[in-house]
Amino acid sequence: MCGIVAYYGHQNGISISLKGLKRLEYRGYDSAGLAFLENNQINIIKNKGKIKDLIGLINGEQANIVISHTRWATHGQPNHINAHPHFSMDHSIAIVHNGIIENHADLKKELTEKYNYKFQSETDSEVIAHLIQFFYQGNFEEAFRKMLSKIEGAFGIVALHKKHNELICARKGSPLVLGLGENEYFIASDPSPFLDHTKNVIYLEEKQMAIISENHYEVKDFNGLNLDVEMEEIPFGIEAIQKQGFKHFMLKEINEQPNTIRDCFTGKLRNIEGIGIKLKTNIQRVVLVACGTSYHAALIGKYIIEKKSNIPVIVEHASEFRYRKPMLFPSDLVMAISQSGETADTLEAIRLAKKIGCNVAGIVNVTGSSIAKECGQGIYLHAGPEIGVASTKAFTSQVVALNLLNLFLNKNPYYQYEIAEELRKLPKIVEEFLKNEKVKEIAKKYFFAKHFLFLGRDINFPVALEGSLKLKEISYIPAEGYPAGEMKHGPIALIDSETPSIFILTKDEVYEKVISNMHEVKSRQGKIICICDHVNEEIEQLADDIIFVPKVIWELSPIINTIPLQLLAYYTADLNNREIDQPRNLAKSVTVE
Ligand code: G6P
Repeated sequence: MCGIVAYYGHQNGISISLKGLKRLEYRGYDSAGLAFLENNQINIIKNKGKIKDLIGLINGEQANIVISHTRWATHGQPNHINAHPHFSMDHSIAIVHNGIIENHADLKKELTEKYNYKFQSETDSEVIAHLIQFFYQGNFEEAFRKMLSKIEGAFGIVALHKKHNELICARKGSPLVLGLGENEYFIASDPSPFLDHTKNVIYLEEKQMAIISENHYEVKDFNGLNLDVEMEEIPFGIEAIQKQGFKHFMLKEINEQPNTIRDCFTGKLRNIEGIGIKLKTNIQRVVLVACGTSYHAALIGKYIIEKKSNIPVIVEHASEFRYRKPMLFPSDLVMAISQSGETADTLEAIRLAKKIGCNVAGIVNVTGSSIAKECGQGIYLHAGPEIGVASTKAFTSQVVALNLLNLFLNKNPYYQYEIAEELRKLPKIVEEFLKNEKVKEIAKKYFFAKHFLFLGRDINFPVALEGSLKLKEISYIPAEGYPAGEMKHGPIALIDSETPSIFILTKDEVYEKVISNMHEVKSRQGKIICICDHVNEEIEQLADDIIFVPKVIWELSPIINTIPLQLLAYYTADLNNREIDQPRNLAKSVTVE
């Protein structure tokens, strides 16, 4: 994880980097720091805490060449010493790193025992700076490349040498993008830090490095061969990464859903064959791999594809999938689902499927991301940057994309037409629903609860999982998502008069069954909040509170049912004064295994 911003140009790179780091805080926020070049000396300012704490340490310093970093700790506690940048022993080099150097312990042993190097921190990253010093004989680039040949693992690295007016960076497994301004250059983990300066970018590919000097940049492979690379233009503006009057990014992103849902299907409904997936074989099975919220979207995809297209679907946590012996066949369609497109486990799962020769595709939000590139085909969500750490708009777009996948697999033109019509109506329905203030009222009633249960059956079971994950992530209130019918096999023991159970139900074939489960809770004095599209007398009597959602077709119901759960999590966290956009211990983009 971690965010990197580096600047080379004619402006004050320190203020640009600090502003940029704030936009990357979603990648980690336990410590932060920067290094800058001044009179052939490198100065480092860093500290435990967030960017605002780092800003407090800046005393009017200015510099034109700067590297900076916001950290999500993996190796070593989040403290001052472990914060990036890291110096080489002789302070001639400073580096920032995102990723994990897997062989850092062996390299450190060799450098300390054989060559008497002294390490300051507990991080895996510090070894990078020492290695560059070790190999340096007057040529910074050559020493950097020799360092690259020694390290194993995942990295986005930017390095600075006190004797060279250069920034050198390299990417393997952790994203880095170059921003090309007017006589100024940026390097960052994503383009948001420099969007107000330039929209022209070069996404470094795997095993590429770049050397930036005054008014000049070069992209090379790790052997030092010059590469021809294409510049791209970022398709969104600065407003996409600003709160625009909302108290939090999460609330803004929840409210963007009418548009993001539309943007996901726009241009794809008329020609579903052209959604971007080419199959090498007839497929026998779909395997969906994902993590976190994206995993819940995948579970929804399973319910839809199996029921409506009669194709078996397996859903896998990417982190589990990789380390057992996954039974994959070339006739499988293996799809990665990922908002960021950078989740390490999901990326590796796709690499594994490719090795076996499966059909491979992605459902990804961030264009040009590692997973998007590795898959080489699939459906982009086009939801725009999602900044709140808890995923909201990406999730509902993933459900739209999985519906598109289902239409692609289904092949029945009448069914395709019917769902396309329903999809077209959905943004308006969501827009109307978002005007509803009911969820806020309900949050005021329950925000002090000690724990929550989220219960649903059939397609509403993954919705329950997602509702409970949202609440946990941002309010830190323990919550459990469970299939409503399974509750009596365990979680029912948690029910007492203080515990709210949130039932999600749709007027479908399990509607009555869920009402029976509500009775089980009610008879144990549990509180019931009911999210449903059809209220009968029984529900009116059973439920303490009802959130009525508009009726939509079953395949799209997870979208409309999840939105009140997002809002419930949001308002509950806000009433508990939580740091909603940057909840403790989490990071948005998990580029470590
Ligand atoms: C992290 C985030 C989650 C996200 C998960 C998968 O844990 O905090 O919100 O769902 O990663 O991320 P992806 O980008 O692959 O969807």
